[in-house]
Amino acid sequence: MKRETFQLIPEVHAAGDPSRQGIRVPFVRPALPSAESLQPAFDEIIRSGRLTKGPYCERLEQAIAKRLGVRHAVAVSSCTVGLMLVYRALDLSAGSCRSRRSAVDACPVATMEPLSRFGVVRTGSRSEPLGEVVMPSFTFLAAAAAIVWNNLRPVFVEVDPQTTNVTPQAIRAAITPRTVAIAACHNFGNPCDIPALEAVANEHGLPLVIDAAHGFGASVHGRPVGAGATAQVFSLSPTKLLVAGEGGIVATNCDCLAHFVRLGREYGNDGSYDALFPGVNGRMPELSAATALASLEILDQVSDRRNELASLYRRELRELPGIGFVESMPGARSSHKDFSITVDPTRFGMTRDALRRALAAKGIETRAYYDPPCHRQTAYEHFHDRMRPLPATDVLAARSLALPIGGHVDDAVVREVCDVIANAKQVA
Ligand SMILES: Cc1ncc(COP(=O)(O)O)c(C=O)c1O
Repeated sequence: MKRETFQLIPEVHAAGDPSRQGIRVPFVRPALPSAESLQPAFDEIIRSGRLTKGPYCERLEQAIAKRLGVRHAVAVSSCTVGLMLVYRALDLSAGSCRSRRSAVDACPVATMEPLSRFGVVRTGSRSEPLGEVVMPSFTFLAAAAAIVWNNLRPVFVEVDPQTTNVTPQAIRAAITPRTVAIAACHNFGNPCDIPALEAVANEHGLPLVIDAAHGFGASVHGRPVGAGATAQVFSLSPTKLLVAGEGGIVATNCDCLAHFVRLGREYGNDGSYDALFPGVNGRMPELSAATALASLEILDQVSDRRNELASLYRRELRELPGIGFVESMPGARSSHKDFSITVDPTRFGMTRDALRRALAAKGIETRAYYDPPCHRQTAYEHFHDRMRPLPATDVLAARSLALPIGGHVDDAVVREVCDVIANAKQVA
């Protein structure tokens, strides 16, 4: 492999933070629009004194709904809050929605039962929910949090080791009479198979909730992910391709689901000061919405660049035995929110963790997503059915390594990272 040197990137985070000293190539830096492009909107917001519930939020919702091709894009304070509110809103809206997705296609929520139709049981000292949501374990912990916060029980299932996304087969096999919803994720920005998952959901009359935290910048057959499913919930946190600072978007075609998410982000208060249900403050501030609007202008550019970097990583690493890649289904383009490889310890000759240490020794920061997977985390392991082992998930969790990617990474940095990986064994 050709060795190239690259300019060390000045590490702004390192100043004053001893834990980050020595990092030359940070794992991530936010893909932000220029300060100049943000200035006029920021000035206007500050001068107006309208810091929340203002026109920027509305404009962002309209722009995103148009881009995704959905009836509603509801701006919220984070993806986690968006997911929490979606499960709550599904419970409230089940059976009542009259919205139509097309002339012949009524909203599936209209025929659904409330999620809370199953109560809780006491098992020993613990109250255990009965209503089940089938979800992958190999995903970010917020997806499980949103379910458990709604007094529902996550049922963890396998993912496909190639795509890292949950499969319709795994979901179907885990559906029981107590299942109230299906959850999936576009892991690392790699689109999951919405039509196939929707088919299972429709077969059983269940809502399909997609954690689309990594979804901005991803597409299927040239169309941005976000339409399809009962709701898709995006994150606009600093590590994502579309950045608000902190923020989320709930995309849905269901009018009443959108209505209850809007109420839920407002404490459950419709303006009468008589809360209809216990909500939260889940609003997106105007400064964040303005940042996201400007970020939307550069989203395609950011996504194209990530895809170029991902292709370069693949070209540089493909000859190395034991290094695997995340594969996309035909027609799908990942946002590459993360560029995650797998390290087979036998074929590569060292473990993922040893490789991670070798990279860290060279100042290259990486992440081991998602290790531990949800079914092994303190908060969620008691929900895991030990009779349903998740070997593919455990292997992925032990082998996955996300490499630095983003605007702070140029081609020379990619080659240097790959060079360190290729030579790690000699150094170890
Ligand atoms: C897959 C996934 N889901 C949900 C979230 C939560 O997003 P937020 O931080 O906006 O709540 C994240 C955050 O990175 C994520 O990676």
